[in-house]
Amino acid sequence: MATINDNYRKLKAGYLFPEIARRVRTFTDANPDAPIIKLGIGDVTEPLPEACRTAMTQAIADMGDRATFKGYGPEQGYGWLREAIAAHDFQSRGADVDASEIFVSDGAKCDSGNILDIFGHDNIIGVTDPVYPVYVDTNVMAGNTGDANNSGEYGGLVYMPISAANNFVAQIPSQKVDLIYLCFPNNPTGAVATKEYLKQWVDYALVHGSIILFDAAYEAFITDESLPHSIYEIEGARNCAIEFRSFSKNAGFTGTRCAFTVVPKSLMGKAADGSDVALHGLWNRRQCTKFNGVSYIVQRGAEAVYSEAGQAQTKALIQFYLENAAIVREKLTAAGLTVYGGVNAPYVWVKTPDGVTSWDFFDQLLQKANVVGTPGSGFGAAGEGYFRISAFNSRANVNEAMRRISENF
Ligand code: MLT
Repeated sequence: MATINDNYRKLKAGYLFPEIARRVRTFTDANPDAPIIKLGIGDVTEPLPEACRTAMTQAIADMGDRATFKGYGPEQGYGWLREAIAAHDFQSRGADVDASEIFVSDGAKCDSGNILDIFGHDNIIGVTDPVYPVYVDTNVMAGNTGDANNSGEYGGLVYMPISAANNFVAQIPSQKVDLIYLCFPNNPTGAVATKEYLKQWVDYALVHGSIILFDAAYEAFITDESLPHSIYEIEGARNCAIEFRSFSKNAGFTGTRCAFTVVPKSLMGKAADGSDVALHGLWNRRQCTKFNGVSYIVQRGAEAVYSEAGQAQTKALIQFYLENAAIVREKLTAAGLTVYGGVNAPYVWVKTPDGVTSWDFFDQLLQKANVVGTPGSGFGAAGEGYFRISAFNSRANVNEAMRRISENF
């Protein structure tokens, strides 16, 4: 019989969001008329920007004409999209990123997991606690960890706790860590990083030869002008960081699928024979072998994000979700709950009342208010006693959910 990858057996229960969906299904099977409002998974609800739809419609027409039809595209993405990304997202902010360093993909989640293909298994890996679970689970699957303990912490990982006490930004570790996952604006806490803070990480990584895996999927929600959107706004980051970006949350592409990863050509890793090897070449090789690129139609939709109309429409979308977040913050605070985040991020991180556990609060919210959120403990042991509310929903649903929570808690 064929053997399996036994590392999968180390994984704790189900992946967080399918587990939430399972619990909600059980509840709705028993209560089919319950008017459930989902503020759990960070999935967008508002329609795609018109500029993106128009561009995709035109792209479909292109595919219907022999003269403009496209077969396989470049595995790295079309040049016109990579150029638009480099100019708008990086060069306009003074970040030195060239179009050839951008790899267009179908998701930041996929890329943040797949990136492990190009790294060795002997790296010391650092994650914050709480953390976006994909970073941890993909390391477990790759065999980079030991077993989980009773709190769900895996042997071999360096956990860097984040809490209200450190403003939800991890302290720079005293020990050496080879791969560091950072996510700003943060999922799940909604915390943000200043330039000065990221500079500390870049300096640390340069001293230790570490690589920062920087997830900036929520950068579009930054409204504070002083905050960096990209790690490449920090001097030296080209030599120590890979950045993940997405069109999911700024342009509503969660169901359309388009993202990109930046691997600077100056970024090096160490080979077993001691030589320095460019990670750009390895990631390119990986993508060319395992990925055939994002569809032409979707890439045209993503390109339209950078048009004048696309910029205005995506700004309006982000503003809409940020207003939702402000409502969540205001109403929960008025209900006597302590809240964090939700200012430069679409997530509000809530302290559960009276020491109630995260999953108990999840159940109470579901049963009493028919509202679904995400238990903080699902993001790591240090998330216990917290709860995440997503601002991704219609205004009517957010208002109604807050009314129900205010009445029941
Ligand atoms: C979340 O709710 O944390 C996100 O939707 C997850 C994701 O974007 O993959």
